[in-house]
Amino acid sequence: MAWETLIQSVEQVVGAAGLVRDPELMHSYLTDWRNAYQGRAALVVRPATTEEVAAVVRLCHDAGVALVPQGGNTGLCGGSIPDSSGRQVVLSLTRMKRIREIDLANETITVEAGVILRQLQEAASQAGRLFPLSLGAEGSCTVGGNLATNAGGTAVLRYGNMRELTLGLEVVLPDGRVWHGLRGLRKDNTGYDLKHLFIGSEGTLGIITAAVLKLFPATHSTATAWVALPTPQAAVDLIGHVRSLCADRLTGFEMMSRQSLEFVLDHVAGCSDPLQGPHPWYALIELRDTVPDAPLDLLLESGLGHAFETGWVIDAVIASNQTQAAALWALREGISEAQNHEGPSLKHDISVPVSQIPAFIERTDSALQQAFPGVRIVSYGHMGDGNLHYNISKPLGHADAPFKAQEQAIMQVIYQMTSAFNGSISAEHGLGQAKPDAAAHFKDPLEIELMRAIKRTLDPTGLMNPGKVFATGLE
Ligand code: FAD
Ligand code: MLT
Ligand code: ZN
Repeated sequence: MAWETLIQSVEQVVGAAGLVRDPELMHSYLTDWRNAYQGRAALVVRPATTEEVAAVVRLCHDAGVALVPQGGNTGLCGGSIPDSSGRQVVLSLTRMKRIREIDLANETITVEAGVILRQLQEAASQAGRLFPLSLGAEGSCTVGGNLATNAGGTAVLRYGNMRELTLGLEVVLPDGRVWHGLRGLRKDNTGYDLKHLFIGSEGTLGIITAAVLKLFPATHSTATAWVALPTPQAAVDLIGHVRSLCADRLTGFEMMSRQSLEFVLDHVAGCSDPLQGPHPWYALIELRDTVPDAPLDLLLESGLGHAFETGWVIDAVIASNQTQAAALWALREGISEAQNHEGPSLKHDISVPVSQIPAFIERTDSALQQAFPGVRIVSYGHMGDGNLHYNISKPLGHADAPFKAQEQAIMQVIYQMTSAFNGSISAEHGLGQAKPDAAAHFKDPLEIELMRAIKRTLDPTGLMNPGKVFATGLE
C-alpha cells in the first residue's frame, strides 16, 4: 500500500485530531526527555479507543509498516523513539486516558494506557485508596509506559514493581486482534500467565491499551528522615535494622553519594543541605502507616538511636512536617535533572543483591578511577531493592566529546563488574535501543533464545518496535 493510501486509511479511523504530520508538532514525539535519542517518523498516530488502536495496527500490519508505541516519552533507554529511517509510525497512547472502573470491594482500578501516573494516584486517593507506584517522572509518564517497562521507583521495597501491581491487561496484538485479559483475579492458574509476557516487553510484543491494577489501603501517617552515613555498608546494616523494627511501615530507603547531592545543590533551585558538613553517603528513609497519628517519628528515632550507637549513622534530621519532607524528597528526585547540567550522563541502571552493594561500589569505583581518572561517579538509587543508578559524568573541566568516546569502555567495566556480582544490567529502565547489545552479551544465551522464540511467535513479521530489546530483529 502506498504511503498516502495508508495515511488516508489511518485518518479515516482516528480523524484529523488523531494524526500528527506537521514536522514542528511531531518534534516532541521524536526525541526523548534528555535529548539523548532522536528519530524520524512517517507520522504520529494518536488513537482514542482500543478499537481505533486495533484498526490502525491492522492497517500498518497489512502494509508492512513498523510501529513504535509511545506513552509519556520519559523512558531512559530510547524505547519510545523511532529509528532514523523515517518509515516507522509512532503510535501515541496519550489520548486513551479514561479511568474505566474502580471496584472498591475487589480493591482494583481499571485504567487506559494513556492515563498519567499522577492522575492514577489521585484517582486512587479520591476513592480513599493508594496506588503506590511512585517515580520522578510521575507527572508525565503513563500507565502504558509503566507497564511496558515494568517500572520500579521509590516504593518497590514495600509494594513491588509495576508487575506486582497488575492483575489484568487488554492488549492489541501485532496483527490487530485484541486480547481481552482485563481480569481482576488474584488467583488464576489456568495455564501460562500471559500478562507477564507483555509487562516489561517495551512495546515489542503488542500494544497495551488498558490494565486492571491493585489498590491498597491509604496511608495517613508518614515519617521521613535524611541521614548521613560513613559507608554503603552502614546503609545495608541500617536498612536491615529499620526493617526488622518497622516491618512493612518501611516504604522507602533511597541512598545517594555526596557527589549526587552536590550536583543537586549546585543545579536545582531552592535545594539546601539539611545537615552540617559534607558526609560521604546519605539515605532518605520513609515510614508510612494506615493509622492516623501513628507514632512513626518515635519509631524512627528509636531506630536511629541504635544506629548512632553502632556508628552506622553520623548525623540525621527527621522532617517535622510535610513541607520539610517534600524538601528532603526534592534532594533525591532532583538528581536526574541536576546531572543534565554537568554534560553527558552515562546511565547504568544496575542491580545486585542488597548485601553486595558495598563491595560492588568499592570495586567498581576503584576500577573506574584507575582506568578513567577523574570521572565523577554519581551513584544513588533504590537501595532497598539493590538497584543503583551508577551514573558517570565527565571529569571536571573536560570536554564532552573525548568523554563520550569512552562510553563503551566505561560501560564494559561497570557491566562486567555487575555480572561478576550476579547482577542485572537493567534493573528498572528496560533495554530500549540503549542496551540490546549488552543484554545479548551479558544474559544467558538460552534466555535470549527463549525470548526470541516468544518474539517470533507473537510478532512474526517483526513490526512491533523493531530494534528495541533485540538489536537485530528476528534473524
Ligand atoms: P515511554 O517513554 O513513552 O515508553 C517506554 C517504553 O514503553 C517504550 O519502549 C515504548 O515503546 C513502550 N510503551 C509505552 N507505552 C506503551 C503501550 N501502551 N504499550 C506497549 N508499549 C508501550 N523509571 C523507573 O522504573 N523508576 C524510576 O525511579 C524512574 N525515575 C525516573 C525519573 C525521571 C526524572 C525520568 C525522566 C524517568 C524516570 N524513569 C524511572 C523512567 C521512566 O519514567 C519510566 O520508564 C516510565 O515507566 C516510562 O513511561 P512513559 O509513559 O514515559 O513511557
Ligand atoms: C531515578 O530513580 O531517579 C531514575 O530512575 C534514575 C535516572 O534518572 O537515572
Ligand atoms: Zn530509579
